[in-house]
Amino acid sequence: MDRWLDPDSANAALARAGRAVIPGGTSRLHYVFEPNPIHARSGRGCRLTDVDGDERIDCLNNMTALIHGHCDPDVTAALAAQLGRGVSFSEPAEAEIELARMLVERVPSVRQVHFRSSGTEAVMMAVKLARAFTGRPMVAKFEGAYHGYYDYVQMSFSSTPADWGEARAPSRVPSSGGLSASVRDEVLVLPFNDPDGVERLLAEHGRNVAALLVEPLSNRCGMARPAPGFFPFLREITRRHGILLVFDEVIAYRLGPAGAQGRYGGDPDLTVFGKIIGGGLPIGAVGGRADVMALLEPTAGARRVVSGGTCSGNPMSAAGGVASLAKLGPAAFERLEALGVRMRNGIDSVFRVGGQAAQAAGDGSLFQLVPTDRPIVDYRSVPQDAAANRWLARLHRELLNAGVIVSHRGLACVSTAMDEADVDTCLAAFERAVAALRR
Ligand SMILES: Cc1ncc(COP(=O)(O)O)c(C=O)c1O
Repeated sequence: MDRWLDPDSANAALARAGRAVIPGGTSRLHYVFEPNPIHARSGRGCRLTDVDGDERIDCLNNMTALIHGHCDPDVTAALAAQLGRGVSFSEPAEAEIELARMLVERVPSVRQVHFRSSGTEAVMMAVKLARAFTGRPMVAKFEGAYHGYYDYVQMSFSSTPADWGEARAPSRVPSSGGLSASVRDEVLVLPFNDPDGVERLLAEHGRNVAALLVEPLSNRCGMARPAPGFFPFLREITRRHGILLVFDEVIAYRLGPAGAQGRYGGDPDLTVFGKIIGGGLPIGAVGGRADVMALLEPTAGARRVVSGGTCSGNPMSAAGGVASLAKLGPAAFERLEALGVRMRNGIDSVFRVGGQAAQAAGDGSLFQLVPTDRPIVDYRSVPQDAAANRWLARLHRELLNAGVIVSHRGLACVSTAMDEADVDTCLAAFERAVAALRR
């Protein structure tokens, strides 16, 4: 299972070929690690085979997008049927409307939906809608939270103790090159799970803030759970300051039919979706209050938010999404929950027995490997030092060698394609990986 590390392997050769024509060797730079990534040949159910022919259990599932694993028969049949009818049109098609209807039916805060081709684009539309609705320029977001690569959210998701400043008023640290200086002026960075810190920063800047973005279970923040009352507090304080509350549920919508807001509360004005709502195909969506979404209407007048998108609302992604969501009834969520608990508890036990100061954080079907056994409340409680990064990198490598795929930053999830035996196979692989770390 460690052939990918051999410079003569098909994986290594493909990485070299990729680097010759693509910066970093792939456009999925979130997936790049040393000495080279494994390259997918095919996937079926919860298993993925790489180009050297090695098969592993896939706990990453295209960065959590494939909630039913690979080649789910129902999703595949829906895609094949749509393929036979045409892959994209200028004209609206039924699948787009059906997917919007399903989201409106499942998420009480969502009255109208607007589709995009990625989560990033959907975040961008949410920010523009909030600016147009409030007439204010600023965006507030939490330290550590990743919301895609729109300029106005690429702040402070990779800050370190060297540059992150005071805990109660985190510094605004650009997390990408190429941002204009105005981005720093227009993005307010807030401390998660700290009502006093949020209160103070909004007292100073609130009248200029259009949107407060929340990633309810942020993997870069070690999937810190919101403290009881924190989301209701955000709902109240945003109303008080006339700010739109925006939940980014691109990943967290996995938590249930009404997503993270169904589990933790919050009642946002707008919600951003992505990943699972496209069945694994490119998609993003923003949904929410009818009066805010109405700014997208051609008749909205001077404040109208104009959008394009050759493939927005395309019938392939929508058909994949409809088929995926249709399979996500109460029984499926109950199963995902049970598998998630079994996985997290099992990994915690492997870490404990193996003397690793680490934990599997998360909720529902999501889990995050975090190099600390202390409580996680925000970005700063996740160790960001070189030793922690080294531990994660070694664990990731040993897990690949033991037959399990997670992200090299520790993000992972279970899928409906797994059963208890698959989870136990993963746990046995974790035992082997931890044993290798101790050697
Ligand atoms: C919470 C969150 N928001 C937004 C995005 C951006 O979505 P996309 O990669 O589809 O542009 C991501 C991507 O991982 C995400 O995790």
